[in-house]
Amino acid sequence: MSTTLPHGVSGLHALPADHHDGPWDAVITPPGLKERLLATAVLVLRHGARLAGSAVAPHGLVVLAGPPGTGKSTLAQGLAQAAARTLAPHGATTLVEVDPHAFPSEMLGESQRAVSRLFHETLPELAARRPHTLVLLDEVESLAVRRRAASFDTNPVDVHRATDAVLSGLDALRAARPGTLLVVTTNFAEAVDDAFLSRADLVVRTTLPDETVVPQIVADSLRELAAQWPALRRLADDTAVHRRLSKHLTGLDGRRIRKAVHGSLARRLETARDPSTLTEADLLAAAEEAGAERRV
Ligand SMILES: Nc1ncnc2c1ncn2[C@@H]1O[C@H](COP(=O)(O)OP(=O)(O)O)[C@@H](O)[C@H]1O
Ligand SMILES: [Mg+2]
Repeated sequence: MSTTLPHGVSGLHALPADHHDGPWDAVITPPGLKERLLATAVLVLRHGARLAGSAVAPHGLVVLAGPPGTGKSTLAQGLAQAAARTLAPHGATTLVEVDPHAFPSEMLGESQRAVSRLFHETLPELAARRPHTLVLLDEVESLAVRRRAASFDTNPVDVHRATDAVLSGLDALRAARPGTLLVVTTNFAEAVDDAFLSRADLVVRTTLPDETVVPQIVADSLRELAAQWPALRRLADDTAVHRRLSKHLTGLDGRRIRKAVHGSLARRLETARDPSTLTEADLLAAAEEAGAERRV
């Protein structure tokens, strides 16, 4: 299957598909944010072609920017499925996942040509297959980084080079296939320049969960466990427990909060053998430890 994927594409999915449910509900966001995201996506995917050429034509770009672990990738995945469900009466949606690591800039010219080919040829061809196409470019900064610097000290020059390449590519993609939506995420919000952000139809800045969201993430993580071990229902429903845990977990990103809850099972052999025996004390110990790590 993977051998049939075009260069630079790491995933191709026909949506909606039941096994893509989950991410959209898993990320807890401020009120209204998901509707904004979904509405932007649906407008572009459904009416982008009709609006093309007009002064109000959408660019077909959504940017999710914020620190690691704040739900950007999960939201982007969820958005694809949510939009596909909304648009299902009008036909299926293709989700194309771009592999940014397929374009190392070690050989600059060659890498630029490869990115250009992606936007001029590969993506328009894929977008011709179904009525709606959403392209996900996760961690745009890794698109143009020098291989040796990848994921360590990404520097702003690399981020600019990546977003520039995407902007000119996006123009080509829009010309060929208006109504295609490009969703880009970045961990380097400060390094992304205004030219990029100002072209976006929507910029969502994800942040660390605040004290109202942390208990909800704790509760959702416990509900996940309770779905497997119903004895944990009591902990999953106890909002006082969630608040006590949250005192230690506030200031951490969503990923680390979920990890602390799940990690509470692996502190004692008994809970590892039988998660039904998990206690509030286990959870508190895990939360305290996670919270202490934040402060070092
Ligand atoms: N606001 C949030 N609400 C619930 N879960 C969250 C939140 N932010 C992050 N998470 C969880 O943390 C994990 C990592 O999220 P991810 O989407 O990979 O973050 P990012 O792409 O910003 O690094 C996922 O399991 C996600 O569900
Ligand atoms: Mg991510």
